[in-house]
Amino acid sequence: MLPYGVLNNNKENNMYEFHKVKLKNITKETNDAVIWTLEIPDHLHESFIWQAGQHLTVRKIVNGEEIRRSYSILNPTDEKDLQVLIKKVEGGQFSAPAQTEYSIGQDIEVMAPTGHFVINPSNDKTYALFAAGSGITPVLGMIYEILNKSNSHINLYYGNSTVESTLLKRQLTDLKDQYPDRLSMSYFLSQEPVDVELYSGRIDAPKVKKIFRNELNHLDISGYYLCGPGGMIDEVSNELKNHNVNSALIHSEQFLSEGQVITSKQKTSKLDSGVRVTIDGVTSHYEIKQGDEKTLLDAALAADIKMPYSCKAGVCATCRCQLVEGEVEMINNYSLEDWELEKGYILSCQSIPKTKKISIDYDS
Ligand code: FES
Repeated sequence: MLPYGVLNNNKENNMYEFHKVKLKNITKETNDAVIWTLEIPDHLHESFIWQAGQHLTVRKIVNGEEIRRSYSILNPTDEKDLQVLIKKVEGGQFSAPAQTEYSIGQDIEVMAPTGHFVINPSNDKTYALFAAGSGITPVLGMIYEILNKSNSHINLYYGNSTVESTLLKRQLTDLKDQYPDRLSMSYFLSQEPVDVELYSGRIDAPKVKKIFRNELNHLDISGYYLCGPGGMIDEVSNELKNHNVNSALIHSEQFLSEGQVITSKQKTSKLDSGVRVTIDGVTSHYEIKQGDEKTLLDAALAADIKMPYSCKAGVCATCRCQLVEGEVEMINNYSLEDWELEKGYILSCQSIPKTKKISIDYDS
């Protein structure tokens, strides 16, 4: 199993800086989704080596304001260029123009790949993958990784509303043709009739119960990887735990649509706090005053200290760092697993100081 949490420390400095890369190709995936291929120049190649399941943060300026979005990388890790799928969200400031307003050769600003929902497959294992909608994008990257880099098997459970809206079908079908004995796929449709009752409707707890009884119970599963909306992840992981699956084997990443707002009650700092942050080998200091409605990330950005972030909602973990001194309260956490919390990892975009001294480290 993977060294989870290793954040490409072998890469050169400034891994959280944005770089301009060329949009090399645009492919229409469905009526409301495109795949962008981004050409990584030689001088960035090492910084952009990624692990299957990681994502890319893109940014652009809209009406004078910087917006950032994260998109999972879907192609095999041994390719040089990167592919991301961008599904249109009505009114989405990035995803809507991404469908029609960009052209090949245009510069796109991206940060080196990050993320901890990753897999490093071993031989002779079986992995169970659950995806819903756009949640298939990191999962497809994992499927390539398992099939190309090991002899292990995969059971994929993939939910969509209709056949037509099913993303990355062609790639999955090609993989099934190439690895018929190692890739088992079950498609679920929620808004189209399906002959077999099990596959009709979204992936929920009763379905997982049946899947577990009929299939997973008879297999020695080495890891469960879930990506989709929060409700789906909660249902699947709770049902797996009901069947005594060790929670250390369950890994998940919540899919957040562009513009989807996770309401979080902003907390006010109850004390003056001095924060020390180390990032890319450089240490800086800033302060959060009693009464400030600022997270560790907000206060750093206000002090002109560059710290990585994307969703600012506790979902993408781009802002993950290690708390090495002091205590914080986290407002939301939809991405860190138990072992990460135990090791002191926090989400800076969700953390409010509870002690007068705080020290955080992005390099550990
Ligand atoms: S920026 Fe996405 S979890 Fe903090």
